[in-house]
Amino acid sequence: MQFSIVAVSTLDGRIARHSFQPTTWGSPEDKIFLRRKLNEFDVIVVGNNTYKTARSLKKRNCVVFTRSVKSFSVKGPLCTYVNPSHINLKRFFLRQGYEKIGLLGGTQVYDYFNRHGWLDEIFLTIEPLAFGKGLSLFAQSCRKAFRLLSLRRLNRQGSVLFHFIRSEAIARKSGSSGTRRTK
Ligand SMILES: NC(=O)c1ccc[n+]([C@@H]2O[C@H](COP(=O)([O-])OP(=O)(O)OC[C@H]3O[C@@H](n4cnc5c(N)ncnc54)[C@H](OP(=O)(O)O)[C@@H]3O)[C@@H](O)[C@H]2O)c1
Repeated sequence: MQFSIVAVSTLDGRIARHSFQPTTWGSPEDKIFLRRKLNEFDVIVVGNNTYKTARSLKKRNCVVFTRSVKSFSVKGPLCTYVNPSHINLKRFFLRQGYEKIGLLGGTQVYDYFNRHGWLDEIFLTIEPLAFGKGLSLFAQSCRKAFRLLSLRRLNRQGSVLFHFIRSEAIARKSGSSGTRRTK
C-alpha cells in the first residue's frame, strides 16, 4: 500500500487562505499534472472541507474523512465517508483492494497520515506567489525524513514540481542513501 500526497503551495508554504478556499489559484500546468496524477490512484482521500470546496472530486473515487459517521458510510458509487478514529483504515483499504492511495488534503488529512508515519511520497508544486497567511501543508512536524527525488520546472513563471520520497524508500531503490535528480 502506498500513500502519496499531491499538493500545491505558495512560496510562503500555504495551501489555502482559509479552510473553504477552492484550489483554483494553481497554474494551468500544475492542474494538468494534478489531473494526470489523480488518474493513477485507486482512491483519493480528502477531508470534508476539501471535498465540499472541490466540485471536480465528485467525478473521482473518494474516501472523505468526517466525524459525522460512526465508522464508514457509502454515499454513492464514488464516495464513502470514513471516520478514521473508529475504523482500521489500512484494513479498510486492503478490503476495498486499494493499493495506490492519493492524499489530496487539506492540512488535517495530511496531518493524519503524517501523524501515523504512513507517508511514502510527496508531489509538491510551489507556485511563485504568497498569501501571507493561511493553512500550511502540515500543522505538525514531519515524522519521517524525506529526500528530493526529482524536480521539474513547469512553466516560464517558475512553478516548480518537487517529488519527495521517504528517505528509507530511496535507500531501498538505489541501494545507497544518494538522492537522484532529474530535470
Ligand atoms: N493547495 C492544495 O494542494 C490543497 C489541497 C487540498 C486542500 N486544500 C485546501 O485546504 C482547505 C481545507 O483544509 P482543512 O485542513 O481545513 O480541511 P480538510 O482536511 O479538507 O477537512 C477537514 C475535515 O475533514 C474531517 N476530518 C479531518 N481529519 C479527520 C479525522 N482525523 N477524523 C475524522 N474526520 C476528520 C472533518 O470533517 P467533519 O467536519 O465533517 O467532521 C474536518 O472538519 C481547503 O481550502 C482546500 O481547498 C488545498
